Amino acid sequence: MSDKRITIGVIGSGAMGSGIAQVAATAGHEVFVYDNNSAALDKSKTALQVVLNRLVEKQKLAKEAADDILKHIKYVSSLSDLKSCGLVVEAIIENLSVKQKVFSELETIVQAECILASNTSSLSITSIASGCTKPERVIGIHFFNPAPLMPLVEIIPGLATSDEVTVGSKKMIDSWGKTTVLAKDTPGFIVNRVARPFYGEAIRIYEEGFADFATIDWAMKEFGGFKMGPFELMDMIGNDINYTVTETVWTQMFFDQRYKPSLTQKRLFEAKRFGRKSGQGYYNYSEGASIPQPKKDEELGQGIFHRVLYMLINEAADALYLKIASKEDIDLAMTKGVNYPKGLLKWADQIGVEKISDVLQDMYDEYAEDRYRPSVLIKRMAADKITFY
Ligand SMILES: NC(=O)c1ccc[n+]([C@@H]2O[C@H](COP(=O)([O-])OP(=O)(O)OC[C@H]3O[C@@H](n4cnc5c(N)ncnc54)[C@H](O)[C@@H]3O)[C@@H](O)[C@H]2O)c1
Repeated sequence: MSDKRITIGVIGSGAMGSGIAQVAATAGHEVFVYDNNSAALDKSKTALQVVLNRLVEKQKLAKEAADDILKHIKYVSSLSDLKSCGLVVEAIIENLSVKQKVFSELETIVQAECILASNTSSLSITSIASGCTKPERVIGIHFFNPAPLMPLVEIIPGLATSDEVTVGSKKMIDSWGKTTVLAKDTPGFIVNRVARPFYGEAIRIYEEGFADFATIDWAMKEFGGFKMGPFELMDMIGNDINYTVTETVWTQMFFDQRYKPSLTQKRLFEAKRFGRKSGQGYYNYSEGASIPQPKKDEELGQGIFHRVLYMLINEAADALYLKIASKEDIDLAMTKGVNYPKGLLKWADQIGVEKISDVLQDMYDEYAEDRYRPSVLIKRMAADKITFY
């Protein structure tokens, strides 16, 4: 399935589809990109030319290689142009019924052995596949934004996906130079599930009045080695997107309190304070706005960092316990998908699972909120004095 002669189809030429097409063409495949909006197709084509020109100017890509990538991508105006594809990746609007409709139509166009993949961030692969006559060939192939730069890709078999399709898809994406991890078809897959406390616990610390945004961001960078603090990162991702992901994971987890969104972020969302793209989020990005300074108190900073980290480790441990992915894949996903400085389970071993279990239990007892419930895996490992690795 890593055969370069396989033609790749991409449906949707927005941010993700354009990036995925670039990655596949760079790997040497013939790529057909379809979008039902011709302006979006034109935009994608122009944007790719700009990106490649810039890479050539910076001498990161040879002119011939850039020309080759452009030659490999065809922008098509009909879904039926994808009939010769061996793998089609769908990256259209995040709407279940629209995706199901596109998959049903696609099934009548492509050959029997063509793999149908969705790049969905929040819908279940099983539900997308349920509208297909051959759900065994439907799979989740989840790239991160921007696809050409982010190394991680989550591979998500649905309930009916065949092993052959799973193995073949993984091999194909590996051959594109990406780092793939296998994830169970559950809300948020690995990254968007395990990362929730990075945002949620940081907001909670702010809501409880322990520290302001700048101090929490400083603490996570200074003591945790994270490249960005949670509030800077939410402002970069966009509070509309980040809030929606949080709310989606929470509702799909049958309102498990551990994933409960915050009113602080919801209000920003309602006020359209999306972050950098709207000029204001947790921070004000308008010209001349004052830059808030952190309170560089080491004891406070260490406390903030450890509270967020322990909640992240708890989430990673629970994902392992519930067989969402292997320990290696959970650690890889967080380092390659969201640039965490270390894998969370490796980090847990370094700190000591017993210590983490004690702190989480204390928080659970004090708050009496399900949010702080320690994973049963952490508790058992602490009792048995065992490590993840
Ligand atoms: N943006 C991200 O950070 C990100 C990351 C990972 C996954 N995703 C997922 O990738 C998918 C696409 O996201 P995006 O950010 O690229 O969206 P986008 O809005 O940038 O692009 C979507 C494109 O799909 C086209 N489209 C919509 N309906 C269509 C249809 N029926 N047939 C053909 N084309 C259609 C639109 O014209 C648009 O060009 C979503 O499922 C999203 O959840 C997004």
